[in-house]
Amino acid sequence: MKNLRFIIAMMFIFGLIQGGFAQILGTAHDFSSESWAPTSNRGCGVCHTTHQSIPVTSAPLWHHETTVVAGYTLYNSPTFDGGSTITDPGASSRLCLSCHDGTVALENFGGISSGTNFIDPSTQIGGVAGNDMSTEHPISFDYTDALATSDGGLFPPTTTNSGLGSTIDNDMLFSSKMECASCHDVHNRFGVMHLLKMSNVNSELCLTCHNK
Ligand code: HEC
Ligand code: HEC
Ligand code: HEC
Ligand code: HEC
Repeated sequence: MKNLRFIIAMMFIFGLIQGGFAQILGTAHDFSSESWAPTSNRGCGVCHTTHQSIPVTSAPLWHHETTVVAGYTLYNSPTFDGGSTITDPGASSRLCLSCHDGTVALENFGGISSGTNFIDPSTQIGGVAGNDMSTEHPISFDYTDALATSDGGLFPPTTTNSGLGSTIDNDMLFSSKMECASCHDVHNRFGVMHLLKMSNVNSELCLTCHNK
């Protein structure tokens, strides 16, 4: 009996590692019962469409109106070493900011452009106006082995195991860049709270990259 429980527990853990268990259903990104979304198009349809998608760079069959902010205030600090490559949020992060910077209504997809429901202030990114990235963890800069060497407090991304199956570079970076999806999985593939790629209990997520 004990053995059986152990086997079931291991199967569950294995399932999570394989990504076969956790799903978007029941998460903050499960829009299937949101009243702001037209009943004909809830769920995946808020973000994706099978036909007539919006041609956004790097976006898979994108459906949602993208952020209207043209230039964000970027992250900087006296000790930040990514300042020479940091740019406005890259294509992948702009998809998140479509809803999360609060400049575009949640229901602005599929022909609707004058929605009135915006992201809750508790999950808004980029300050009240939505254009200030200076108070968020830096994104859209190159995280390379050279940066790790010059910083001295980071693991080299191309040779360090991420714990997700391969290296930090393969599993968490986008053409060597940090983006929102370096830390988050929009579909909750890993079944971790806050749609994270791994638990941050005891700062596990932070310590994957930061050698502190
Ligand atoms: C909140 C917005 C959102 C919702 C809802 C959503 N997606 Fe996605 N999806 C994204 C984003 C953003 C990407 C870009 C890659 C990434 O960040 O994972 C993506 C990528 C994808 C991809 C291509 C890459 C991959 O992971 O295979 C597929 C396929 C996909 N989504 C299918 C779905 C399906 C099916 C649903 C509904 C069950 C869904 N998505 C719901 C935002 C969303
Ligand atoms: C279609 C709009 C939309 C897009 C696109 C979108 N989100 Fe969300 N997201 C939401 C909404 C709505 C919530 C729930 C807000 C609330 O209830 O406070 C949410 C919640 C979240 C949460 C909080 C989850 C929790 O349980 O604490 C995280 C983290 C998140 N989103 C990350 C992302 C990331 C990363 C991306 C891009 C890869 C993204 N979102 C793209 C609409 C979106
Ligand atoms: C370096 C890792 C990292 C990056 C990059 C990152 N996040 Fe997060 N995010 C977290 C962690 C960890 C949490 C959990 C709660 C916390 O610490 O505030 C979180 C929480 C959130 C939440 C829940 C509300 C909140 O503020 O607590 C949202 C929404 C969110 N992130 C969206 C985003 C978006 C959009 C981006 C890109 C612009 C992004 N995140 C980039 C690590 C990250
Ligand atoms: C996927 C890798 C990755 C993860 C995960 C990550 N970071 Fe970072 N973080 C970086 C990189 C790369 C920098 C840029 C460091 C530099 O150039 O100074 C950075 C920058 C920072 C900075 C600013 C440093 C400065 O000098 O201004 C802080 C503070 C920080 N991270 C804290 C965190 C915390 C807290 C977490 C966990 C919630 C976290 N990071 C998760 C990669 C990561």
